[in-house]
Amino acid sequence: MKDTNLRIYLDNAATTWPKPPAVATAINDFITQGAANPGRGGHGLSLATGRMVFDCRKKLGRLFNVQDESRVIFTSNATQALNMAVFGTLSPGDHCITTSMEHNAVSRPLHYLQGKGVEVTVIPCNSQGELSLGRLQAAFQANTRLVALTHASNVCGTLLPVQEACSLARQHGALTLLDAAQTAGVYPLDAELLGVDLLAVPGHKSLLGPTGTGALYIGPRTELRPSIYGGTGSFSELLEMPDVLPDRFESGTLNTVGIAGLSSALDYIEIAGLTHIRTHETALAKLAWRGLQAIGGIKVYGTGDGAPIVAFNVGEIGSTEVAYILDASFNIATRAGLHCAPWAHQTLGTYAQGVVRVSPGVFTTIKEIDTFLEAVEAIKQEMT
Ligand SMILES: Cc1ncc(COP(=O)(O)O)c(C=O)c1O
Repeated sequence: MKDTNLRIYLDNAATTWPKPPAVATAINDFITQGAANPGRGGHGLSLATGRMVFDCRKKLGRLFNVQDESRVIFTSNATQALNMAVFGTLSPGDHCITTSMEHNAVSRPLHYLQGKGVEVTVIPCNSQGELSLGRLQAAFQANTRLVALTHASNVCGTLLPVQEACSLARQHGALTLLDAAQTAGVYPLDAELLGVDLLAVPGHKSLLGPTGTGALYIGPRTELRPSIYGGTGSFSELLEMPDVLPDRFESGTLNTVGIAGLSSALDYIEIAGLTHIRTHETALAKLAWRGLQAIGGIKVYGTGDGAPIVAFNVGEIGSTEVAYILDASFNIATRAGLHCAPWAHQTLGTYAQGVVRVSPGVFTTIKEIDTFLEAVEAIKQEMT
């Protein structure tokens, strides 16, 4: 195995690494000092785990600026949160509006539901991934129940006008589902200010928690059907799912080990501050964006001023080949191909070639971006 100390990790959009050291400590402490099942027993260890889970829920509630943290539901990733929202709101005969920049975590459930009688309108974004509000406005129908859109493209970082989109949805009596997979932990996500009804986040990307964590915020306007039925540790005498939150949407044992890590990661973010994190990461992305353009012969995609994600290609060389060389010869981790977002690649005109995606994180340094740029320049000299 290569020396991971020398590795430059630029794949934070897939999952962040490294995590703050306190995250590993919190996981270790939890699992060694009493990892009992919360809400499943009256003994001290179960109650202590319940308090730990409650604390983490509260921290997420603060992040989303919501009063009632019981509306924050733990999930195992953003995909589960998005599926719960899509399947829990849409019924045959409903209409859903979405965009051509969505991840498969949104487009696949919608495609499935299309086959079950849900009408879906996909608004094409422009070649930089930007959404036209005029097109969105024109897409509403009398039966529009949901607008499902990403906050930032996971392919090129372009930000969508989510506050305006939420406002339009409200005017038309529709709900909004925001996929904040690429913005949670980097941009403010004030649910009230954004006017969003359903907010899905992964815990393992910029929230800096471990994999196997995520959350769905369910706003007070939203009537959601549960997607998973089972034990909640409460109202065990009922055959129906309890009405109370979060129990209604949290059947089965929670990923308490992951939540212990996520809770510590949220402390890190609260102390570091979103502004500091965003300023750092977007400055590095800009450095990469400008540096790639300065090399010449490199195609760079998106608006260049969105979430800290940079998508590029070296001439006509396949993106997978470039990412392979970056990894094998330079020990630099990036991600190539279609990034689970085929519509986005059709929109950007990169469906055949894919792109190499570079995503700095909170621990990435300027020197690492400089080394990455030197590597791309060397690949370009060698191969074109
Ligand atoms: C925009 C977007 N939505 C959803 C997801 C799915 O996230 P998860 O892997 O946590 O399920 C991703 C993951 O990359 C993403 O980038």
